[in-house]
Amino acid sequence: MREVLDGKVAIITGGGSGIGFAIAQRFVSLGATPVIVGRNQESLDEAVTKLGRDARAVVADVSNDDDVRALFEKEERVDILVTCAGGAIFGPIEKVTPEDVRTLFATRVFGQMSVAHFAVPRMKQGGTIIFCSGVGDVVGLVPYSAGSAVDGAVNALARSLAVELGGRGIRVNAVSPGVIGGTGIRPAKGTEYVEDFVARAMRTVPLARPGSAEDVADAAGYLATSFYPP
Ligand SMILES: NC(=O)c1ccc[n+]([C@@H]2O[C@H](COP(=O)([O-])OP(=O)(O)OC[C@H]3O[C@@H](n4cnc5c(N)ncnc54)[C@H](OP(=O)(O)O)[C@@H]3O)[C@@H](O)[C@H]2O)c1
Repeated sequence: MREVLDGKVAIITGGGSGIGFAIAQRFVSLGATPVIVGRNQESLDEAVTKLGRDARAVVADVSNDDDVRALFEKEERVDILVTCAGGAIFGPIEKVTPEDVRTLFATRVFGQMSVAHFAVPRMKQGGTIIFCSGVGDVVGLVPYSAGSAVDGAVNALARSLAVELGGRGIRVNAVSPGVIGGTGIRPAKGTEYVEDFVARAMRTVPLARPGSAEDVADAAGYLATSFYPP
């Protein structure tokens, strides 16, 4: 049976685990070929085996422009770009250093921007970009000021690029997850604050439970398939 994304190539940074992996699985079920990107060959290989079909893996660090350039020198076809690579830092402002914030931005802001910079010349009319931000842009999350600054920057990037690239038939969106269960929420720093962060965040969620990576994959699946004209 023909699927809606048959023949499309989806580059998914951070596609080896968590939200990115769930999106890769969804795209496989919709017929696309996922190319997952991360820094660890072994975990990417495991993910490729689970994804099956014609999934592929490329090792690249999105905070390194040379890696990203090399990635898109090899990947000549890009129909869908999803940028989930990244992590989180938790902690009160006195504990989170400017250096920590620069490191976080290097992957989650400049990394997403760099991937778009090198991918867009490969994208044709009908292409689509899905950035990954988070609800810290619109909700006060404690202790998560650095991640919230990332979320705001990525949403602003997505809004501007949507207008810039819309005339070329390339759609740009951002998925903005709240707390997503089962992802491990693996912080680069501030593990001791995670439990309190999740408990506080849950108090603001009407259903009082985390979302799932599959919820975000639902959103990404919708965004990747709602093209008009095709
Ligand atoms: N989970 C949540 O509740 C939540 C909520 C809102 C937003 N987010 C954001 O959504 C994204 C995905 O989250 P997740 O929970 O799915 O995280 P995850 O399971 O930790 O997955 C992140 C992936 O990104 C890869 N990665 C990290 N740094 C990278 C780099 N510099 N270059 C290339 N790949 C890199 C990791 O692989 P390697 O370490 O092997 O490179 C990993 O596969 C993150 O940006 C996160 O901040 C998550």
